[in-house]
Amino acid sequence: MRSAFPLVFSVTSGKGGVGKTNISVNLAVCLARLGRRVILLDADLGLANVDVLLGLTPPKNIFHLLNGEASLPDVLFPTPYGFSILPASSGMAELCSLSRGQKFELLDALDEMEDDIDCLIVDTGAGIGDNVLYFNQAVQRRLVVLTPEPTALTDGYALIKSLKQGHSVEQFDICINMSSDIKTAREIFKRLHNACDHFLGGVSLDIVGIIPRDPDVRKAVVRQIPFSVENARGPAAEAVLALAKTVSEWETPTSQDGNIKIFWKKFLGLE
Ligand SMILES: Nc1ncnc2c1ncn2[C@@H]1O[C@H](COP(=O)(O)OP(=O)(O)OP(=O)(O)O)[C@@H](O)[C@H]1O
Ligand SMILES: [Mg+2]
Repeated sequence: MRSAFPLVFSVTSGKGGVGKTNISVNLAVCLARLGRRVILLDADLGLANVDVLLGLTPPKNIFHLLNGEASLPDVLFPTPYGFSILPASSGMAELCSLSRGQKFELLDALDEMEDDIDCLIVDTGAGIGDNVLYFNQAVQRRLVVLTPEPTALTDGYALIKSLKQGHSVEQFDICINMSSDIKTAREIFKRLHNACDHFLGGVSLDIVGIIPRDPDVRKAVVRQIPFSVENARGPAAEAVLALAKTVSEWETPTSQDGNIKIFWKKFLGLE
């Protein structure tokens, strides 16, 4: 984010329930604290996870923008934590089947974001379905969340493989969540690294975050308040703040067309 252009990155995983939404929300909280203007796109199309985690109910979503029923500022839902949510809703898949003219109209409306934000975080659903892959090929960077469970590793590998083979994505940032200690987290990363080296040439992986298993997380989920707000000094909160500092140092490659526009163009298949 060390440029005048916004950074667009996803928080993703092959496996469900590994902590993507918690990490997205708390990263948004921490990046806002670091002075960044953040929008969190709830791109989990089946289940509006972000709303549930924050106990908020945004009244409008991206469809109202498309139908002309709302402008971008009406759809963006401010949270009490210094960032806004852009709710996607379950009809998002239909966006891809819009006519070219409709897509460009939508693109114009979404492009207004470019000047007003520093960072768009895309919280994806689980799995390697088309939607997850569309979002992940459209973003500039991908934060892949794994846990010590073996299935998280194999599913994370499957996601990386699909993005490499289907969309030529070669760079991934890895975050290990719910780890008992740093050594275990590093071993998981090494296993993933070895598998990618062995079976998928040319993939580059960096470990950018290790978030410990922390009972505060579940408590905060139940109270519908981000754990970084509930207890900013807790182990998970401190780890997410460290991750946010790393993210805020990421260079943002820029294109003439603007990073936000490129993201939506790619997502809508206009690129
Ligand atoms: N660091 C952690 N320590 C303890 N529990 C955690 C941690 N991170 C996540 N959890 C638990 O895991 C649950 C699932 O988290 P979350 O909803 O963020 O996962 P997800 O990957 O977004 O799931 P989905 O794939 O369904 O979208 C949370 O309700 C929380 O209880
Ligand atoms: Mg989620």
